Amino acid sequence: MDDLKQLKALIEKTLKVRCSQYKEEYIKRRLLSRMRTTGSGNYEEYTRYLNNHPAEWELLRNALTINVTEFFRDAEVFEILRKELIPKFISEHNRIRIWCAGCSSGEEPYSLAMIISELTTRKSGISSTIYATDIDENILQKAKDGIYESKAVEKLNTAIIRRHFDELPDGRYRVKQHLKDMIHFRKHDLMSGIPAARYVDIVTCRNVTIYFTEGQKNDLARTIHSALNSGGFYVMGKTEYLGREVEGLFSHYNALQKILIKNDIK
Ligand SMILES: C[S@@+](CC[C@H](N)C(=O)[O-])C[C@H]1O[C@@H](n2cnc3c(N)ncnc32)[C@H](O)[C@@H]1O
Repeated sequence: MDDLKQLKALIEKTLKVRCSQYKEEYIKRRLLSRMRTTGSGNYEEYTRYLNNHPAEWELLRNALTINVTEFFRDAEVFEILRKELIPKFISEHNRIRIWCAGCSSGEEPYSLAMIISELTTRKSGISSTIYATDIDENILQKAKDGIYESKAVEKLNTAIIRRHFDELPDGRYRVKQHLKDMIHFRKHDLMSGIPAARYVDIVTCRNVTIYFTEGQKNDLARTIHSALNSGGFYVMGKTEYLGREVEGLFSHYNALQKILIKNDIK
């Protein structure tokens, strides 16, 4: 077995991360970035580094899962978006504007677009926009292309797949144009403040802050607060939390699902 194969086998055994779910190039890119940081010259040296520095395993796990996402990730959160949050703005303002921050390969904004499309099919005069941003240009291109392996859509019901995807001759699925038309994809670094997506009703910023320091997380909360309209919602990842310093900016709307509502600060 070559060094890379051995390392992948060790990763599967130790982290229980299935390397085969990723493209070989992706794994190599992520490993290279950790190898550079740890000063390892090749896969064998990095394997030795892992064996001698147990804390490196967690950093490697984070590096491998950095872009991981899925359609309707955390189904309960999307049910609240579908039944409570999005209908509220549609019925009260005939409008819905969402900023999906850290959108990765697009599954999150396309999930939101599917919900909006279904809630507005029989209504006219509703204006809807989703701004989807990420710092990683490669992943944004994948999001714009909107082409997914069949595994990515296997949990969606067939009616949804039929309505929103075209099956390609190679067995992959491409999201239909009506969903793409609802989304503006843009490169943006969340650490650089507010993007063009201002005055939105909902910000989803989920599973993004894994590498952020406490200070950066606080700045992010301030950025999201100022991007939101009065009464707007901030949907966090299930394991993310608001730092003490910025607690006053939001109240809990649904504490269990990590959905916050903006407090207006006088
Ligand atoms: C694990 S994915 C989460 C995707 C999706 N939000 C979800 O919950 O399924 C995290 C994404 O955040 C992006 N990201 C990390 N740091 C960022 C930053 N400073 N600005 C913008 N995006 C960032 C990464 O490129 C990655 O695509």
